[in-house]
Formats: sequence, C-alpha cells, structure tokens
Amino acid sequence: MTKQRVLSGVQPTGNLHLGNYLGAIRNWVEIQQEYDNFFCVVDLHAITVPHDPKVLGDNTLKMAALYLACGIDLECSTIFVQSHVKAHSELTWLLNCITPLNWLERMIQFKEKAVKQGENVSVGLLDYPVLMAADILLYDADRVPVGEDQKQHLELTRDIAARFNDKFGKKKQPVLKIPEPLISKQGARVMSLTDGTKKMSKSDPSELSRINLLDSPDEIKRKIKKCKTDPVKGLTFDDPERPECNNLLTLYQLLSGKTKEEAALECQDMGWGQFKPLLTETTIEALKPIQDKYQEIMDNRDYLDSVLKEGATKAAVVANSTLSRVKDALGFLSSSI
Ligand code: AMP
Ligand code: TRP
Repeated sequence: MTKQRVLSGVQPTGNLHLGNYLGAIRNWVEIQQEYDNFFCVVDLHAITVPHDPKVLGDNTLKMAALYLACGIDLECSTIFVQSHVKAHSELTWLLNCITPLNWLERMIQFKEKAVKQGENVSVGLLDYPVLMAADILLYDADRVPVGEDQKQHLELTRDIAARFNDKFGKKKQPVLKIPEPLISKQGARVMSLTDGTKKMSKSDPSELSRINLLDSPDEIKRKIKKCKTDPVKGLTFDDPERPECNNLLTLYQLLSGKTKEEAALECQDMGWGQFKPLLTETTIEALKPIQDKYQEIMDNRDYLDSVLKEGATKAAVVANSTLSRVKDALGFLSSSI
C-alpha cells in the first residue's frame, strides 16, 4: 500500500519558538514514519510583510537546519525551499484567478496582520493563503499538520480545490486532491509567557514572551523567572481562570514527556518557587539535543546545501506533474508542441 502524503511548512522569519516546535514540527517528527512527507521552508511567504534581504537567505538555511535538528528523517521526508520550486509561484497565479476576493478578505490572520501593517499592506499579504493552498495542492497532500491558528487557511485550501474541481474537473476525476488538516490537540496553541491569553508568536515585540529553540540556558532561566504567574498555590490544567498556569503546566508536560495525569499529580501542591526551576531544568534538557545537532549541521554547510538541492529536485518532480494537470484542465496550449 502506498503511504499517504503529508506537506507542511514554516516561514523563515526570526527564530523558531516553543509554539512552532510543539504546535508543528514536533508533530511532523512524531508522525513522519507513517507518511511520505514534504516539508518546505516557505520563504515566499516571508516576503508578504516587509523583510530584510540581508537576512532572508541565512534565515532560510537556519530553518532547514532546525528541521533536521528537530529530527526530520530524510529516509521518509523531503526538505526543500519553497522558492526553489517554481511551480509554487505559477500555481498561485492560476489559483488566484479562480479565488473570489471576498474569501481572502475574510481571513482572520490577514485582518490581524493588516492592522499591524497600517498603510503598508501588500497584495502579497492578502494573497498569502492562496500561495499556501498552492504549496499543499501541488503535492496532492492527504494531510497537513499545523497548529490551530492555520485551520482557517486549510479550510480555504479545501474550498479552492473543490471550486477548481467543480469548474474544471470531470466528475469522476477531480484535478486537485482535497487535503485534511492534522491538528494535534496537545501543543496546538502554546501561549505567551507574559500573557496566558495570547498565543506565543514570533511577532510579539517582547522577547520575554517566548522561548526560542536556540535560546541559551541562561536566557531560558531568565525568561521563565520573569514569566507571568498567579497568586494561587498548586498547579492545575484547564482552569479558565488560570490561563498562565494551564500553559506553563502544559509546557512542562510536553517537554518532560510525561502524561497529563502524571504532570498534574506531580505539580498539584507545588508553589511557583518550586515549579519554575523544575520547568527551567526540563526546558533546557529538552532543547539541548536539538541545539547540539543544529550546531553540527550548521558547521557542515556542504551537507545542508546537498540536502536542499536534492529536496528541490524531488519536490519539483511531484509539483511539476500537478502543475501540468492543472494547466491542461484550464485549457492552456501545451508548451511541448
Ligand atoms: P509561523 O510561525 O506562523 O510560521 O507558524 C509555523 C507553524 O507553527 C504553524 O504550523 C503554526 O500553526 C505553528 N504555531 C505558530 N505559533 C504557535 C503557537 N503559539 N502554538 C502552537 N502552534 C503554533
Ligand atoms: N501559513 C503557515 C504558517 O504561518 C505556513 C505555511 C505556508 C504552511 N505554506 C504552508 C503550512 C503549507 C502548512 C502547509 O504557519
């Protein structure tokens, strides 16, 4: 039996934080053996907001190294850079022409980011979800593992594919595969360390709000020391009155590898003075192997380059074949005449 296909990606903007890791990449690693996987570094998405050309390339390379450091296995997964496979841009254009404008104007993430950008909103920011749909549909992905915040974009991808099939497919032979989201319950929403009601985010101006995968032990210690807590003694999960407590206990549970019951029992009588050092130790321990591996990979640039070159070649074969199918369905004159 052939394996189902998985596709996912992260933008090469800033550092990866615990939300990206626990909400996305760690889940990719956990499920990868069951699937045929494509993981891309979505650099074309990174320029939908103002960006610095001096760091884009480096950040892209670092993100690919982090994928490997987190445990993506090249035996069952392909790692590549989105802009290296030209079909992503081309399919985006084709899908643009069948996507109603008001579908994009409804996107929550667009509205949130547009407010932050003020006057400076690009057409690219509005079009971001169509590019994401192209990423997914090019690979005939069955499953797309993402954090909760991407659910609406996944639904849009499904709607675009269904509309395309409806307009240009034949009943028994849809042109595009309709993907399913894969949102793991645990870690799907890691919250900010400074406000338990806001999600941990790369764009939060406060560094204290997030722990990055490459933070040094001292930085981790400082951030956890300063993180927001509450005046109650004893930690519990799922108390709506105590969002910070739920978030920190969840982080402890996920990073220690314990079950929810074990973590709840262990921490039920703890005060913050006892819990914070425990969480600090656990976080440092959990990130150390990733940081060591990352350094090793970054020190071997030739290896990383070869992984990305091979990845782009493999990805392009699949992507170009879908693109031809789409162009045929749309009635374009074949370029091989
Ligand atoms: P981004 O940082 O927006 O490129 O997101 C990359 C991946 O990380 C996506 O799959 C997001 O759903 C996931 N992600 C981002 N922030 C969080 C968070 N605070 N909690 C859980 N998942 C997240
Ligand atoms: N929009 C996603 C995010 O911010 C990143 C992304 C781009 C993505 N293309 C994708 C995720 C395709 C999954 C599949 O997290």
